[in-house]
Order: sequence, then C-alpha cells, then structure tokens
Amino acid sequence: MQFIRCSNLDELSKNVALIFKETITNKPNAILGLATGSSPISTYKELIEMFNNNTISFKDVTTFNLDEYVGLSEKNKHHSYRYFMNDNLFGGIDIDLKNTFFPINWDENVDLSKIDYSNYDELIDKKGGMDLLILGLGNNGHIGFNEPGSKIDSKTKLTILANSTIEANARFFENKDEVPKYAISMGINTILKAKKIILIVVGESKKEALFQLKNSISFDEKWPCTALTQHDNVFVYYI
Ligand code: GLP
Repeated sequence: MQFIRCSNLDELSKNVALIFKETITNKPNAILGLATGSSPISTYKELIEMFNNNTISFKDVTTFNLDEYVGLSEKNKHHSYRYFMNDNLFGGIDIDLKNTFFPINWDENVDLSKIDYSNYDELIDKKGGMDLLILGLGNNGHIGFNEPGSKIDSKTKLTILANSTIEANARFFENKDEVPKYAISMGINTILKAKKIILIVVGESKKEALFQLKNSISFDEKWPCTALTQHDNVFVYYI
C-alpha cells in the first residue's frame, strides 16, 4: 500500500484524475468502481474537465457504484447516490447511462426480501471485474458502507448504517431522522477483487481511521478499511 500525501484537495484530485485517465487510455472499455460522498467530488470535476478538453472519453466505460441507500422517501430521492452520480459526474461526460450500475435502484416501496444481492457481484465478474475502484473513508473506518464488524469475505449485502455514519451523513439532510437506516453496499470481498484501488482521505474527522490503516498489517474488523492491507495494489491519497 502506498500513502501519498497531497498539500491540498486540488493537487489530490488532479493526481487521482490522472490515474483514471491512464486506466481509460490503456483500456477504453475499462470497468470502474465509483464512490460518492464529498471526497471524490473534485476528482469528478477534473474528469469532466478532461472530457471537455477531449483528453478522455467514457463512451465505452462501465461503472459500478459502491453503495446505495435503501428507504429514501420521494421527498429525499435526490439524495440517492444515483442522483449524486448523475449530478457530479455522469451528466458532464459521454458515458452511456445504461452502463452505469448501482446495487439497487431507487424504489420507495422496495421489498428487500425479493432482492438477490449476489447479482451485483456476478454482474461485476461477468463484465471482467473492476480495473480501478475509488473509495472514500468513513469516520469510523468504513469503506463503501461496510461498517465496523463487517466480514472480510462479505459480498454485496444489505447493511445497517452505524449511528456515527447516520450522524456524519445528516449534514446532507434536513435532519438526522431523514437519513436512511439501511443501504446496500459492495462487500469487502467485492472491493478487494478490484485490480487497483484508490482511497481518498480528506478531513480531520478521518484522522483516527487513517492512523489505524497506516499502522495495521492485517485486517481488524473494528476498522473495515484495514482490509486494504490484504490487497497489493492500493494507493492512499490523503491531505
Ligand atoms: C458515505 C459513503 C462512503 C464514503 C463516505 C465518506 O458513507 N457511503 O462510500 O466514502 O461517506 O464520505 P465523505 O467523503 O463525504 O467524507
């Protein structure tokens, strides 16, 4: 695992965007794993700029998002990660939306008992696996929505959000009660199958999780991000 300290968000985003560019230049039909949250937003802006300058094209790219909320009301539909991605990336590039996947599509009345979560992992495998996966880091060390206690061999699954995650994400909602309690997330095993992983760490609140990651040599369930110690192609960009 390589740790790359950047002096500001602009430098970080430009560096990470260059890795995307390299991946897509080498393989125009690359399979990308994408994260939401505030950390990757400026990287996505850089990618849109690269597209506008004709330096990069996503026309043959396929994407799989890491996670999606379950149980968002009609009123809060715009907080879904599908909306986030359309707003912050897909709407500004030439990707075919048919090639952008999420573990679940928004449905206010979803019947969770009818969902076969394993389909998502199978689809990723069928497409050839993720060439590059970008991750953010939760204050509690979560990656995707793999909260503390997640198993290293977990596949895409329904997850109950930790209270600290609900509190951290409440800033996007009118109040804490509107934050969904559940999400569907790629599991840790799904994440570790990506060929290359970039973890973006921005913000004081991530300090403890970053410290745990830097000082681990094996997986510790209490800090899900430490699963990345078990992968041999991980780059941690942090400020
Ligand atoms: C959410 C997402 C994660 C993301 C994390 C960090 O919980 N499910 O994938 O990494 O937030 O978000 P931020 O970048 O806003 O700190």
